[in-house]
Amino acid sequence: MTDLTIGIVGGGQLARMMNEAATPLGLGVRLLAEAEGTSAAQVVPGTDVGDYADAATLGAFARGVDAVTFDHEHVPTDLLRGLQDAGTAVRPGPDALVYAQDKAAMRERLTGLDIPAPAWRATRTPEEFVAFGDEIGWPLIAKTSRGGYDGKGVWKVDGPDGAAEPFAALGRALGPTERVSDAAGSAQDAGVVIVAEEFVPFTREMSVLVVRRPGGESVVYPVSETVQRDGICHETTTPAPGLDPAYAVEIQAFATRIADELGVVGVLAVELMERPTGEVVVNELAMRPHNTGHWTIEGAATSQFENHLRAVLDLPLGSTDLTAPVVVMSNVLGGSNPDLVGSLPVVLANPDVRVHLYGKSVKPGRKVGHVTVRGTDVAATQEAARAASAHLEGA
Ligand SMILES: Nc1ncnc2c1ncn2[C@@H]1O[C@H](COP(=O)(O)OP(=O)(O)O)[C@@H](O)[C@H]1O
Ligand SMILES: [Mg+2]
Repeated sequence: MTDLTIGIVGGGQLARMMNEAATPLGLGVRLLAEAEGTSAAQVVPGTDVGDYADAATLGAFARGVDAVTFDHEHVPTDLLRGLQDAGTAVRPGPDALVYAQDKAAMRERLTGLDIPAPAWRATRTPEEFVAFGDEIGWPLIAKTSRGGYDGKGVWKVDGPDGAAEPFAALGRALGPTERVSDAAGSAQDAGVVIVAEEFVPFTREMSVLVVRRPGGESVVYPVSETVQRDGICHETTTPAPGLDPAYAVEIQAFATRIADELGVVGVLAVELMERPTGEVVVNELAMRPHNTGHWTIEGAATSQFENHLRAVLDLPLGSTDLTAPVVVMSNVLGGSNPDLVGSLPVVLANPDVRVHLYGKSVKPGRKVGHVTVRGTDVAATQEAARAASAHLEGA
């Protein structure tokens, strides 16, 4: 009997759902979690608990697994190079991962590849930021190049007066989830810059997921429409309603080209914004299963989690075909209802509703689960998904 074991760094819901996908394939899973009892630690026996930014902890965890992959993108790339030097397969590897960790590096690389993007500039001072706004026009979007997530580290800046705020945030010491290097001190000391971007008055956001094996074989999922509120994903509808099929194919093609050029292994999620003209531009990249791909568990022949594991272990990839004409995913965010499981009798009364709860305690705005509904009519399917997640939230 051959054993194949995957090591997942990070104990959140993405690791939990990767573990679910590993079971039918008979894959072993080892987990390095931040703490006891996290979403994935509840379901993976023998979880290691420790600091992913500590070289010795990470090295000990990686010994004996066939490949290391991630629930989040925060592991410092120098540590990952160390793992590779010790003979561990790290997927995605540090050379690719840097483009998901650093928005300035990502913008520079994609510009070099002629991928559609908003106008942008890396700025180190409020004066440089203001100069860019005066050049291309206000408002601008400001983003910390590293350490941001779920809209933390993104500001809309209406005019020169607002330029100080993002830089003030850079000057503060980084919190634990924002750690960008081993360097103590402020983010700016650690080489973080403010990426100034043209404010795109987007008509909607979208995303597309590519999954790529080490040798270059890849598959791509249909393009999804995504709804973010306060920087957090709320809902996806797949395929993106009204998107010209020929343009969808173009979007899939350039996303695949990004995965190839960057040498991504596993899931690459490409977040997109649609301009009023209909043209899409790339917002950012993620290299792990992504919230905008949760619909694939029921909505695609092979889920993003299973294809991620297959890619990371260099196994043939599964079909990305839709299993229904319309698939809607609605996130469950922490609200007034503390007892998610207690709501199941009501929510499951609709036989089309599929529920995924992450085992997390309810805190305001926290991602604690999602629901998926498959249907034929966009509005009716969205309605059913929204009703289910709203009930779980306590609305
Ligand atoms: N250039 C832009 N113009 C308009 N809105 C933007 C722009 N860049 C980002 N946003 C909005 O901010 C959200 C968060 O930005 P993003 O770079 O994806 O940060 P995060 O890493 O927190 O997900 C996006 O989903 C989008 O709604
Ligand atoms: Mg984003």
